[in-house]
Amino acid sequence: MNKQEILDKQKKYLWPNHLLYYTEPLPLDRGDGMYVWDVEGNKYLDFFGGILTTSVGHNHPKVTKRVQEQSAKLVHSSTLYPQENHVNLAEKIAEITPGDLQTSYFTASGTAADETAVLLAKVYTGQQEIIALRHGYSGRSSLGMSLTGQAGWRIGGTHIMGIKHAINPYCYRCPFKMSYPSCGIACAEDVEEVIKTTTSGRIAAFLAEPIQGVGGFVTPPPEYFKIVVDIIRHYGGLFICDEVQTGFGRTGDKWFGIEHWDVQPDIMTMAKGIANGFPLANTITTPEIAESTVGKGLTISTFGGNPISTAAALGTIEAMQENAPPSHVSDVGGYFRTRLEGLQEKYPLIGDVRGKGLMQGIEMVTDQKSKEPATDAVGAIFEQTRQRGLLIGKGGLYNNVLRIAPPLVATKAHVDEALEILDHAFASVQEMV
Ligand SMILES: Cc1ncc(COP(=O)(O)O)c(C=O)c1O
Repeated sequence: MNKQEILDKQKKYLWPNHLLYYTEPLPLDRGDGMYVWDVEGNKYLDFFGGILTTSVGHNHPKVTKRVQEQSAKLVHSSTLYPQENHVNLAEKIAEITPGDLQTSYFTASGTAADETAVLLAKVYTGQQEIIALRHGYSGRSSLGMSLTGQAGWRIGGTHIMGIKHAINPYCYRCPFKMSYPSCGIACAEDVEEVIKTTTSGRIAAFLAEPIQGVGGFVTPPPEYFKIVVDIIRHYGGLFICDEVQTGFGRTGDKWFGIEHWDVQPDIMTMAKGIANGFPLANTITTPEIAESTVGKGLTISTFGGNPISTAAALGTIEAMQENAPPSHVSDVGGYFRTRLEGLQEKYPLIGDVRGKGLMQGIEMVTDQKSKEPATDAVGAIFEQTRQRGLLIGKGGLYNNVLRIAPPLVATKAHVDEALEILDHAFASVQEMV
């Protein structure tokens, strides 16, 4: 099919609220490693990785081989029957997650993983109230949208009761108008005030992403999680760490983002990068917390632990360990960060560069002093980078943050290629504003 035929059918047969990137949407045809091609044969360097999902690059041979072999053997089983890939993957993940996180429940999306985590925390603690963070994102179900801390992502005004949103550690736009470190991490300390004033004083959990993904790669200061998690535990709650974007080496140096903050989650959720694009998610916890679900009611997941998705995940983790371990991500990510900071020195449009590893955000502002969000300029950068053959993402409450997160197999040469395009794009957009 040609481009127009695809776009016409998209318009006729898919809900009009599908969010599509670019003024003229971009139908993709195929991928190979760090690159994708559109249906007209144009090639793009993919620095968004299908929303931080194609961890080891498009069509990685190891993943493809495992998937092909498994699809010729058994495509589906459901969680009603034990299956080899399912248990092997659970074992593999238990080996790389921190602390005593050992027992998994696989589902098919990040939304379902977060739902499962909240359910588990409620069952274990016997409490109902949840603390989430402003600007956070947790998915598209009613609960997911309610946990999410952005009005724009709550379609239809859906809101489930019993969720309170604490102030997020957004140092660049500190809601208290303070500066780090003299602020004393006021946003973290304020969580106690939130519990005391807006809840019954007993909570089931605090759910947060180590680095807020959709929120625009907001990266908390080093002290943040320790302070908050101590408060949460004091009030009887569990810490649910949403690693849907930050998991599997994305932040460099460690397998999971939260390990940079040196706190131990009670429950961790993961999806996106787990299976290089195959639908799979996981909620992992300690044996003691998992045990609390026994005898409390029935639950199944038809697609949870699907044999093909788990085969893909086993291939993905193996490929990461061989070609793109966390040490590689921190090496290339460090180089990437330095190059982005170089861009920041050149272009006043860049207010902030933040993130970790191969998860780097550029917050764009019209004026460095007022920090007015440069949302239109982000749109212009988007069109320019597309024209020059580079795919990137965007986000943030004000939709003014470029989210740049290539597959973890990216090399410094790929970073150079991306930076050259970004440099040209910024030069032309900076001239226009
Ligand atoms: C941090 C986080 N949690 C949960 C989700 C929901 O995942 P999914 O879209 O797979 O349901 C997302 C999706 O972007 C996410 O970024």
